[in-house]
Amino acid sequence: MGGASRILNTALRSKIMSASEAASLIPSGVNVGMSGFTGAGYPKEVPTELAKRIMDANLHGRKFKIGVWTGASTAPELDGALAMVDGVEMRLPYQSDPTCRKRINAGEMEYIDIHLSHVAQFVWFGFLGKLDVAVVEVSGILEDGRLIPSSSIGNNKTWLDQADKIILEVNSWQNPLLEGMHDIYYGTNLPPHRQPIPLIRTGDRIGEPYLKIDPNKVIAVVETNSPDRNSAFSAPDQNSRKIAGHILEFLEHEVKKGRLPKDLLPLQSGVGNIANAVLAGLNDGPFENLTAYTEVLQDGMLEMIKSGKLSMASATAFSLSPSALTELNADLARFKDSIILRPQEISNHPEVIRRLGVIAMNGMIEADIYGNVNSTHVMGTQIMNGIGGSGDFARNAYISIFMTPSQAKGGQISCIVPMASHVDHTEHDVQVLVTEQGLADLRGLSPKQRAKVIIENCAHPNFKPLLMDYYKRSLNLSPGKQTPHLLDEALSWHLNYLRKGSM
Ligand code: COA
Repeated sequence: MGGASRILNTALRSKIMSASEAASLIPSGVNVGMSGFTGAGYPKEVPTELAKRIMDANLHGRKFKIGVWTGASTAPELDGALAMVDGVEMRLPYQSDPTCRKRINAGEMEYIDIHLSHVAQFVWFGFLGKLDVAVVEVSGILEDGRLIPSSSIGNNKTWLDQADKIILEVNSWQNPLLEGMHDIYYGTNLPPHRQPIPLIRTGDRIGEPYLKIDPNKVIAVVETNSPDRNSAFSAPDQNSRKIAGHILEFLEHEVKKGRLPKDLLPLQSGVGNIANAVLAGLNDGPFENLTAYTEVLQDGMLEMIKSGKLSMASATAFSLSPSALTELNADLARFKDSIILRPQEISNHPEVIRRLGVIAMNGMIEADIYGNVNSTHVMGTQIMNGIGGSGDFARNAYISIFMTPSQAKGGQISCIVPMASHVDHTEHDVQVLVTEQGLADLRGLSPKQRAKVIIENCAHPNFKPLLMDYYKRSLNLSPGKQTPHLLDEALSWHLNYLRKGSM
């Protein structure tokens, strides 16, 4: 279907213009809510045109910066292009772009890393200031002006609702069969008038398939025809296969003990190669008729739908490698009844996650011997990506699992450390830790009991003696015996690595 034929509303058709004209309507100093959640559903042309304008302003000695709010990470045409020209004053929430990361760590870009379920409501509450412009990709516009969402929903409902002005990109590359896959819930009132969210099973539809807008706020409609862009996942290596094996064994044990039903509970799987490898493990495993209540739908979940292992997946975005995306688009009708895309305040909602009893599985950078988890900072000060939805899920899950290889950087760094250099998930929100070495089930254990199990089961043999020695000396010398530590040594553990100059 051609671009214009996807814009059925006459008033909005009259606002069609080029991406460069639309970008010229965004002035310096404003906050812009952009669509996009991983490399899916982000605006493909307006941000790049805006970046050109910013570069031009910079060349003429004029400062031009905007605030960029998104669903989560996006793609090079958005985060990459704007970061390259130093056009972002403030970025929120999750990002994973290398240029953004560099600017944030160099102190050139402010970054607010908040729980993904918080973003929309923080904007409704007025906590983040004013949203001036929304730039949102959609896959079509109905005659009555309602919007057919794209391959991610993220915070789009909130951006369209809260922004003073709206720019729409209508991307005719997006599969027309996306229509009907979305479930936009408009019932989230503000306290004290909030009602329970009526979502009882992963596949429940509680909203409507379209986004609503005030057409008078639309200042531009831009036609695009460009693919979504995500990187390919690396094939599961030996470590990630071992991690998947430990998790599978654990889940089987829980079923035997009667703590999980034999079709488990809804799965949440985080971002990254290891999370994807765990899904591959589940696909080869013994469990049938599984469901997912998750944030992003990665390749592994698509494979599980294809194999029949996964009967229903609820997410806020596709996050597929180019080959999986081609496969999805070639056969979307087949997947349509098994996938629902929701706004991220619902896909990540604490109330729903707790009600459904989600099994949360997320990656991490390091964990300490007491079970505090660092998901975001390398050596305590340098941001990697952000907390994303990991806190939304971990805090409210039935069982919260964190996983990592036991070592990083070719074995120079232990991912099990005496004291985490930054904490995103406290010991209170972490029930299971897994590395390729083994799994530590921390449920029902005190800090000292946890330390022994974590070191014994999860640390790499190269670091195990050092960690055990630290723990034993802490037990003797620490002034407090609830969570024994030698603070100067805990810090030097990280400093020693930094001093080697390897970072
Ligand atoms: N010290 C230093 N660097 C470390 C490290 C450590 N302890 N552990 C990992 N790293 C580095 C790796 O070397 C790698 O760097 P490189 O890209 O330069 O090679 C990078 O971190 C990613 O590690 P990797 O082992 O490939 O893991 P991953 O792809 O599974 O990602 C996280 C791990 C933690 C970065 C990722 O899961 C994340 O961003 N999580 C937070 C958000 C989240 O959980 N979202 C899901 C919610 S739905």
